[in-house]
Amino acid sequence: MIRKSIKMFHIVLFVVLTLSTLTHAIIHPIEIRGNHFYDSITNKPFFIKGVDYQPGGSSGVNEHSDPLSNPALCARDIFLFQELGINTIRVYSVNPSLNHDKCMTLLAAAGIYLVLDVNSPMVGQHLNRYEPWTTYNDKYVGHVFHVVNEFSGYNNTLAFFAGNEIVNDKTSATNSPVYIKAVIRDMKHFIKSNSARIIPVGYSAADDLSYRISLADYLECYETDPLETVDFYGVNTYQWCGEQTFITSGYNNLVRDYSTYSKPIFFSEYGCNEVLPRLFKEVSSIYSSEMTSVFSGGLVYEFAQEPNNYGLVDYDEFGNVKLLPDFFAFKEQISKVQDVPLSKKLLLQNQQNFESKNVRKQKPKRKVCELKYANLDISKGIPRSMGESIVKSFNNQEKGKFVPLTQEDMTSNFKIFSVDGTVFNKKPIVKPVPEPLADPKDSISLTSKLNPLFSLICGISIQSLLNGLF
Ligand SMILES: *[C@@H]1O[C@H](CO)[C@@H](O)[C@H](O)[C@H]1NC(C)=O
Repeated sequence: MIRKSIKMFHIVLFVVLTLSTLTHAIIHPIEIRGNHFYDSITNKPFFIKGVDYQPGGSSGVNEHSDPLSNPALCARDIFLFQELGINTIRVYSVNPSLNHDKCMTLLAAAGIYLVLDVNSPMVGQHLNRYEPWTTYNDKYVGHVFHVVNEFSGYNNTLAFFAGNEIVNDKTSATNSPVYIKAVIRDMKHFIKSNSARIIPVGYSAADDLSYRISLADYLECYETDPLETVDFYGVNTYQWCGEQTFITSGYNNLVRDYSTYSKPIFFSEYGCNEVLPRLFKEVSSIYSSEMTSVFSGGLVYEFAQEPNNYGLVDYDEFGNVKLLPDFFAFKEQISKVQDVPLSKKLLLQNQQNFESKNVRKQKPKRKVCELKYANLDISKGIPRSMGESIVKSFNNQEKGKFVPLTQEDMTSNFKIFSVDGTVFNKKPIVKPVPEPLADPKDSISLTSKLNPLFSLICGISIQSLLNGLF
């Protein structure tokens, strides 16, 4: 009898606790000021510490699933993102028809942002780099808008990539630059008219010396429409292999070549695997004062193991995870990055460039286009927009939104094993993070100061209660 009532008590307590631990994600939108990203609420500069995330590679997106459509898999991996201590992931392809609310809310609760590519390997969902005129059509632009519309509803959508390594050889450099710019323009017009928030649009470039400067410059300039320009630039670079330094790696040349760029730049892929095991010593260089005036951090390629052997983790057929040595090597390096240095001068400069708090009214400093850019053909001009007629059809379309999370949503039932096969964690749980604090030099109210502390204490005590119970 007594046992029974204790059991009853436990069940009641469990139900009460489960209901009371509904989590609402609070994550601040990131915006661009000058050539850096900032938390729009705390006014702190934001540096990307992240990984590229596309489990299953290009076949990881299809009619039924994509990397952000399955909450159980998201909980498992977001727990591991928190173990790594990262603040951003990049996803290369999604299916915008699927529901992403739970995964995006889980990411937000964990304090993690998303940089999202709008293209996919599926038919009609990417540009053909050699004959882009055959693929730049209503269907394609409709797909791009669908992705943007779905993810513009989430505050942790940090930015969109209009394209990834579309220019990668002579023919693509002849035919595709003006089309890349067309897609950027279409996306930025769509965001301006359809999104509650201005979300930055950029391009992710292969770091090829033939186009390193010219393509970045071309995407920075405009003739008449300021929305033809990228808001930021991503560089995929694999030049730091094994034991290197800022100078022997050639990172110094990257900093030099981009030192006058007016927009944020970051490594959209890094992590050479020509020398194994990977040590990730470039991390300390990327977040040092030698680089942070020009580069806003980066994303390690890549979280999930594929045949090309860049993975931090591997999955078995049941979805259990084996952590690979690279997981621990990267964690060790990224955990050393605490405060990222940015000089007073740059902080001031960024603030001055950020003339108006109203992002919609900001005018980027005009860079007039040159007639020619080295190794690129831009002579045909940017094609007329395919998007104008489609924009309206999105007027009343639903966008993705945050949803309440239960303790169950945040708990993963998959097992995680260490390198040596021992159990790393029996019950992986996504831990909600407190809302970031505003900078002390800005005036903040007492309540906003107390809230995060309060929720942190509540979070901990509920957590320990639950742990004690089960
Ligand atoms: C997004 O962020 C803004 C600014 O902090 C906030 O007012 C809004 O409520 C947030 N939206 C969601 C869905 O959290």
